[in-house]
Order: sequence, then structure tokens, then C-alpha cells
Amino acid sequence: MKKSDSAKDDRREFLEKAGSICAGCAMLGVPAAAGIAVVLDPLRLPPKDAEFIDVTTLDSLPPDGTPQKYVIKADKQDAWSRFPDRVIGAVYLRRLKNDTIQAFNVVCPHLGCAIEYRDVEKDYFCPCHNSDFALEDGAQGRGSPSARPLDSLETKVEEGQVWVKFQNFQTGIAEKKPA
Ligand code: FES
Repeated sequence: MKKSDSAKDDRREFLEKAGSICAGCAMLGVPAAAGIAVVLDPLRLPPKDAEFIDVTTLDSLPPDGTPQKYVIKADKQDAWSRFPDRVIGAVYLRRLKNDTIQAFNVVCPHLGCAIEYRDVEKDYFCPCHNSDFALEDGAQGRGSPSARPLDSLETKVEEGQVWVKFQNFQTGIAEKKPA
């Protein structure tokens, strides 16, 4: 055999082995990538939309419109686990004249402390940086550092039960954006 023929054979053998190795890598790589995608899949789910939560009865709210605070519980879910009946926030509810319900998330839109209703001043107040908010519509008072009013929530009353579409929002910004 000539020397050039031997070199050609060596090169062909090398290319065949390299091709086999690449094919093997591809065959292993596809299932591995699929496995990783399955494991991480829950992390790629979009955030759940807010849902109505049964909070209390209409009769439990004072007809004079004094706000009442309620803890909100719901089933919580992270990437892999489900936690039933967990506290996910709190709201102030007010019964208005026509038996409609006004609801505010208790999270201060400034930087996230909890607001409190002040019975003497008849307003909501955040003690962290002294933001006050109007009872009637949640508007921030003059001089309050909060860039927006309290975050109102949708409500409905069905067969004497009060439902709130609960949602948390980003703090520290003027826009009301879901957290
Ligand atoms: S967090 Fe409420 S005023 Fe700053």
C-alpha cells in the first residue's frame, strides 16, 4: 500500500469516529435537556391571575362604614409544592350605603408596611414614614411619601357573602402594577 493511501484511510477512520461521538452526544443531550425542562417546568409557569376569595359575611360589617380588617387565606403554590389555607395578605373592608363593599389591601404602596385604620382621625395611617390615606377613597394625604393611593380591590356580594379579588401590588412606584 502506498503512503498516501494509508494517510487517507487514517483520515477516514478519524472522521468516522468523530461522527459517532457527535451522534452519541446528541442522543444523550436531547433526553437530558428534556429532563431538565420537566424539572424546571413549574418555574416557567406565568403568575396566577387574582381570584375572588370568600372573606366574610355582609352582616359582619358595620352598617356605619367603619372599616374592618380581615386576613386573607388561600392555597399557596410554589414551583413544586402546594400549601393549603395559608395567609397571603390582609384587607380593610367597608360597607357602603348601598351594601356594596369597598376594599383596600393593607400594604402601604410607599414601601410595604402595614397600614392601620385610625378611629379618631377617621383615616388610614402608615406608621413607617407617616403616610395618611383618606377613608373615602384611599387617596394619599398631602405630604405623604406614598406615590399613589391605597390599592383598591374588586369586591362582590353573593347570598350574603363578601368576596374580594385579592392581589398584591408593587410598592414604591406611582403605577398600580401587580406584584
Ligand atoms: S411604608 Fe408606608 S409610608 Fe413608607
